Amino acid sequence: MTLENIKKEYIEKVKSVVDEKELYELRVKFLGKKGKLTEIMKEAKNLSPEERPAFGKTINEIKNYINDHIEETKQILINKAIEAKLSKETIDVTLPSKKVTLGGMNPLNKVIEEIEELFISMGYSVAEGPEVETDKFNFEMLNLPKDHPARDMQDSFYITEELLMRTQTSPVQAREMLKAQGRGPIKIICPGKVFRRDNDDATHSHQFTQIEGLVVDKNITFSDLKGTLEYLIKSLFGENKKIRLRPSFFPFTEPSVEVDISWGNEDDEENIKWLEILGAGMVHPNVLKMAGFDPEEYSGFAFGMGPERIAMLKYGISDIRSFYTNDVRFLEQFNNDRND
Ligand code: DAH
Repeated sequence: MTLENIKKEYIEKVKSVVDEKELYELRVKFLGKKGKLTEIMKEAKNLSPEERPAFGKTINEIKNYINDHIEETKQILINKAIEAKLSKETIDVTLPSKKVTLGGMNPLNKVIEEIEELFISMGYSVAEGPEVETDKFNFEMLNLPKDHPARDMQDSFYITEELLMRTQTSPVQAREMLKAQGRGPIKIICPGKVFRRDNDDATHSHQFTQIEGLVVDKNITFSDLKGTLEYLIKSLFGENKKIRLRPSFFPFTEPSVEVDISWGNEDDEENIKWLEILGAGMVHPNVLKMAGFDPEEYSGFAFGMGPERIAMLKYGISDIRSFYTNDVRFLEQFNNDRND
């Protein structure tokens, strides 16, 4: 093999090198201890002294050429590898992002929270009571003795003769008054689940929620109740809303009223529609007495409302069951935080 052929062979072989490893192998093959150039050097001893310098010089030139060329090629290969890696890792900012759907609050809980905040801002506190209640608190302490006909107003789920699923949040009134040991003031609201033996349909559910309100103090009058309810309704539904009180009956209040809200066009006085929205009244003296308050000294008002009914009116929901069936298509409509 001649020197020139070695160079040619190198030039040919290096063309097909694709990475640093192959390049290294090529370097060993040509420049290594047992490489082609080292091998051919051994032939120098067969040459005449005159020929040797030129032979040595050519070998060195080829050696330097291959060496430099390998260094250059190495840099090129390194750069190519970096480029390939980068192009694989490129982030395409035009790709649509993954959809993240955030959960939101059930409209019923939204309404309950809104009402809680409203009353807290008026100095009320939020009270709670048990859902499995005694007959004593659910009825008797609220002026409904055992055989009182008004018990039929609320079909109940009894567990034993003395225990039932509470049919209303009113028992929390009696519990809170007992706790206060005959001394006011009391200003509470009590949101919670209640249970009735009803057949479920668009407007009835065997389980629903109520928010009870109770204020007991000296000199509490009916106008305090009316002002509070007016403020509540206007805050929930808008300043233009009117309320109408109709005489009614609840065993635990005297007098008792049902409260209607104006609906439709409030400017058209003659054609205003009235929708019933809650029950209320002045706490019955018997209820005060049974819970340890002196009705001569203290008076109070109470009210009870159904947040489902309020949410249905507020958001135009037609079926009470929508609150409980967890249909995301329904729930998503109330999700202000959703992200899409
Ligand atoms: N507990 C009554 C019901 O379930 C609602 C109610 C009416 C509560 C008048 C009250 C009230 O506190 O004063 O129908």
